[in-house]
Order: sequence, then C-alpha cells, then structure tokens
Amino acid sequence: MKTVQASAPGKIILFGEHAVVYGRPALAVPVTHVQARATLETNKENGFRIIAIDLDRDYLLAEAASDDPLAVIVKNTLKYLGRTEPPDAVLHISSTIPLARGLGSGAAVSTAIVRALGEFLGQPIPPHQVSALVYEVEKLHHGTPSGIDNTVVAFAQPVYFVKGEPRPIIRRIRVARSLTLVIGDTGLVSPTRQAVGDLRRRWETDPERYEGYFDEIAVIVDQARVAIETGSLELAALGKLMNENQELLQTLGVSSPELERLIETAQRAGAVGAKLSGAGVGGNMIALTPAEAASTVAEALRVIGAAGVIITEVC
Ligand code: PMV
Repeated sequence: MKTVQASAPGKIILFGEHAVVYGRPALAVPVTHVQARATLETNKENGFRIIAIDLDRDYLLAEAASDDPLAVIVKNTLKYLGRTEPPDAVLHISSTIPLARGLGSGAAVSTAIVRALGEFLGQPIPPHQVSALVYEVEKLHHGTPSGIDNTVVAFAQPVYFVKGEPRPIIRRIRVARSLTLVIGDTGLVSPTRQAVGDLRRRWETDPERYEGYFDEIAVIVDQARVAIETGSLELAALGKLMNENQELLQTLGVSSPELERLIETAQRAGAVGAKLSGAGVGGNMIALTPAEAASTVAEALRVIGAAGVIITEVC
C-alpha cells in the first residue's frame, strides 16, 4: 500500500492583473495560509478513482466527461510521464482555497495533482513542467489565461511575469523588506472567464484607449517591482501605487461596489494602499498595511461583513 501527498498554495496578484492578458507585466505572490492538497493511495480495487470531497464528487477516471478538469489534468500528466494506463489508485482532493475568488484555487488543485502523480509514479516533475501542464487546464477554465496563476502556484515563489510566445518571461522577485497584506473576501464568486471576456469586448470597441490604460498599469508594475526588490520606496509610496492600480482597474470596469467598500474600509482602518486582486467584479481585495496595523484592518473588514480575511506576509 503506497500513499503520497502533495500540496500547492493559493496566490494573489499584487499588481497588473488584466493588463497581463494583453502582454503587460504583473507581480504575483503565493499565499501559503490556504492550500490545495492531493493524496494518492493504492486502490485495492481496479481503476483510478477521484474523490473531491469539497465538490462532493466520487468517480472513476474511466467514466469522467472528456472536459472534466480533474480528469484532464490526470490524463495529461500520465501522458507526459509516458504512461498509457493509469495506476490503480485513489486520488483524494481537498482545498482550503475559496473557489473562484481570485486566489488561484483551480491552479492550486491542478498543481497538487500533478505533483502527487509524479511522486506516486516515482517520476517527480520539475516546477516549469508542472506549470506547463496546469496551464493547459487553466485554458479550459478561463479561455485565454495569461499563465500567471499556474506560474506563481507551481513555482510557489513571488514572480514578475510577462506573457509571451513561445515562452513567458518569469523572474523570481526578491523581497527586500517583507510586506504585510490583509486579504478580504467579498464573498462574491468572480468567474475569470466572464470578467476577462467582458473586458475584451470593451477593448474591442476602443482598443487604443484600453491599450493606454494597460500601458499606465505597466508603468505602475515596473515601479512596484523596483520598490519591492530594492526597498527604495517608503511603504506609503508603495501603497499609493496600489491605489493607482486600483483606480485604473475601476476605469477598466472590473471593480464593483462590494470590492470598493472593502477597499475604502481597509484604507480608513490604516492600510496605506488597497486594490482588487485577480479577475475582480467579486472575489478578493488586498490591502497593504504597516505590520502593526494589520489586525485592526482585518477586524474592520470583518465588521463590515467580509466573507473571509487572511493576514499574510510577503517575504
Ligand atoms: O483567475 P484570477 O481571478 O486569479 O485572475 C486572473 C488574472 C487575470 O489577469 C484577470 C487573468 C489572467 O489570465 O491573467
């Protein structure tokens, strides 16, 4: 009887979401307080069984729909490993990452599965290959993903990311001075495909104007990258960049009253900057705070009804 376990963190985008789909840079960091976990154990019966407890699903790989994302990641990974038949195994999947809230739950579940399969079969898979396998499934969920989610989750490190063919630019970010972030959940589901698709339709009506907004976001991302890596800016100045990024996201039409309520509350409670993170419309916001203000900001968010609050350290 063999058992292996693998996990993968959630993620947040610090700067640059949406513009990253149009070739501009973005910064993302893992959030280890929330995790997806995949456990593989020998199946005493024949076949490969998938049990996803949070989704209330229990089924055989052989009977899965052809577009079932869990089955697709399993099959693609087996193919990559040169296996024509799945092993007789039970795959248990669980996750503490809220679904469809911009915290990268889909990428984390896929990443945990790829890693667990590699370990189970004695063929560990390197992070860039994990990322490539997860990206294929992200396309099923999101349509035209930039690839930032699978990258930050598979490498489990802060990254600077620019989408590109044939390969994206990925640079590890070294954080000069650790940053304290409070993540607040609106509780609203935020389907990335829809937010990205709606923005695409607005872009099509006036590409020049939207490209201009994306360029402005790119400037903010590059300033933030330098500031984070060198520690050259005061915290308040980095927070201001976050607020400026949020204003542009509002202009792009991907914010919402629910997000803005959390953002304003965080700012009033002591955050130096705040913005939505991920696809927007619903999902999560992030607030940059002095370390000593984090619990006050978190409490203020809870009081006005945030569905979930996480304090995290980026280092
Ligand atoms: O799926 P989310 O909510 O983490 O957001 C993805 C970020 C976007 O830039 C909006 C889309 C993408 O593919 O990069």
